[in-house]
Amino acid sequence: MSSNLAIKLRTGTQKSHTAAENVGFMKCFLKGVVDRDCFAKFLGNLYYVYSKLEAEIERHRHHPLVSAIYFPELNRKPFLEKDMEFYYGNEWCTKIKASAVTQHYIARIGEVSVTAPELLIGHAYTRYMGDLSGGQMLQKIAQPALKLEGYQGTSFYNFEHITDKKAFKQKYRQALDSLPIDDATVERIVAEANTAFRFNMQMAQELEGNLISAVGKVLFNTIITGDNPGSTEATTAS
Ligand code: HEM
Repeated sequence: MSSNLAIKLRTGTQKSHTAAENVGFMKCFLKGVVDRDCFAKFLGNLYYVYSKLEAEIERHRHHPLVSAIYFPELNRKPFLEKDMEFYYGNEWCTKIKASAVTQHYIARIGEVSVTAPELLIGHAYTRYMGDLSGGQMLQKIAQPALKLEGYQGTSFYNFEHITDKKAFKQKYRQALDSLPIDDATVERIVAEANTAFRFNMQMAQELEGNLISAVGKVLFNTIITGDNPGSTEATTAS
């Protein structure tokens, strides 16, 4: 019997998704208003998030539930390392630092990995399904805005082991639906996905100050006025 987890995650995080899209940093990003330093910091935080997430998923790869969403072809850490080297050079390890929110985010991933590994599914869903969807739009915006070549500096968005992203998203949703879990567990995973969204929103909010310094308060305020409709509020998924 299907757990319907995929659709429950989508509908259960719609409000969070719309809120995340409407954070000033994201709204500016969508308009191509992003600077190299902010973008590098954004990816730097994600480097810490994915390092932790992928290590914990790897640890639980034989777990009865986590194993269903164990798809190493999704792994972003090696790609983020390439981006870090691009922005900060060979010594990148000594030049980057996890932001305060990022530290809370990775602590939470570590905590659920110990106490309730099935909640890692909420974290994996939030990041990877997003990267395969809106993330691809963001790459197409960042590349010309930052005058980058190919995937140089945007390797993070390059899923070179996944040729058909749409088909992969369907496979991922089927894996979510196939989990033999009760309604209470579904609810806990959806709640954890909303927690993951909150961390992502807060990480973007942390970067607003840097972005305002780079682009100016007037431009920033012009862009952030008014709410955009949410991309996951449509009834059919792509
Ligand atoms: C400006 C920022 C963003 C844009 C433009 C955007 C756009 C989109 C689009 C177009 C989709 C596809 C909707 C569909 O399947 O019909 C999507 C899906 C998704 N996005 Fe975003 N997104 C953004 C930010 C985020 C953030 C910050 C997260 C969380 C970290 C996120 C997580 C997701 C997830 C999990 C899905 C899959 C929804 C499903 O279950 O079908 N997105 N996004």
